[in-house]
Amino acid sequence: MTDNLFLKTISGHKQNNTPIWMMRQAGRYLAEYRAVRATQKDFISFCLNPEQASAVTLQPIARYGFDAAIIFSDILMVPWALEQNVRFKLNVGPLLDPLDVPSSIDQKLIENVPKKLAPVAEAIRLTKTHLSSEVALIGFAGAPWTIMTYMAEGGSSRDFAKTRRWAWQYKKETDALLDSLIESTICFLTLQAEAGVDILMLFDSWASVVPAAQRHWLVIDPARKIVDGLRKNGHNQPVIGFPKGIGEGLISYVEQSAVNAVGLDHGVDPIWVDQNLPKNFPVQGNLDPLSLLQAGPEMLKDIDHILGAFASRPHIFNLGHGITPPTPIENVQLMLDHVRQHKR
Ligand code: CP3
Repeated sequence: MTDNLFLKTISGHKQNNTPIWMMRQAGRYLAEYRAVRATQKDFISFCLNPEQASAVTLQPIARYGFDAAIIFSDILMVPWALEQNVRFKLNVGPLLDPLDVPSSIDQKLIENVPKKLAPVAEAIRLTKTHLSSEVALIGFAGAPWTIMTYMAEGGSSRDFAKTRRWAWQYKKETDALLDSLIESTICFLTLQAEAGVDILMLFDSWASVVPAAQRHWLVIDPARKIVDGLRKNGHNQPVIGFPKGIGEGLISYVEQSAVNAVGLDHGVDPIWVDQNLPKNFPVQGNLDPLSLLQAGPEMLKDIDHILGAFASRPHIFNLGHGITPPTPIENVQLMLDHVRQHKR
């Protein structure tokens, strides 16, 4: 069996120690990240520079010794590869040319995804040569619904009204776009699996805005098709689904999406999760990233609450969403020490 704490845990074998990593662990809260970032004019070319992407992937491992590294890239690399004019504006975030109505994407563009995103595979290979077998490497992509929101709205949005309207108004066309995004996502994750990642993660960051009646169609079914596609391509890496803000929909997501583990946002109570998910199903999460700004006794109490709730279930400690740029680096160490001191 593997000597990797993360891989053992996610395969359903609970260990005495809880593996830990953080979403957005390679990011602006780290001075060493900001130093590399300052040398890069454009975020997309930064993601497509294997040496730089690999270097920042390794930074949080060097500083904290997390149990997993996540390859430095972005969920919007797929729409970029599909020529949706994705760019990142400083202090604004991602911008795309919004589509008026949903429609399928030209098959030639989809087939070109592995070629356009080959530098991500190169960054993965390079990173693997620097990681010990005790640290798992995570590859990832955005889920079709979340990617579709960016293509509809042209960026982030307060309520995603346009995308939600599409789903009611243009059902057939929405399906066609989803199918194209499912296929593109399988291509991107297959590329990363072939390059040697140990785990794959599917970010559905805006699952929270999908009405309950449409969850199966827009969130669960696409996730299942992506997992099925990977298995059909011969890739058996565990897949972590992260349907952020899905609420009680978590139960059917876990039952029906075929993912091997589920990421929990900080809006869901770990006690409820433990009572409602199948016995021994692996979970990941779910400390509020903003608790790290203070890192007081309340944060330690919440960490204990999370670890206590999952005392008899395979659990990977993480935040409920990405770490925020103003987080003091020493507070991350406090969290890490507290989780690592905790023994079963
Ligand atoms: O360390 C890691 O987690 C790996 C790298 C990673 C990034 N983005 C790097 C990044 C990962 C896993 C992502 C996922 C991602 N990207 C998501 C899903 C997770 C979530 O947060 O819900 C989403 C929705 C995106 C889209 C995206 N990328 C946005 C909205 C932004 C701008 C917001 C911001 O924080 O500035 C980005 C840019 C981005 N992606 C940054 C990083 C480190 C910051 C930009 C910079 O350094 O200039």
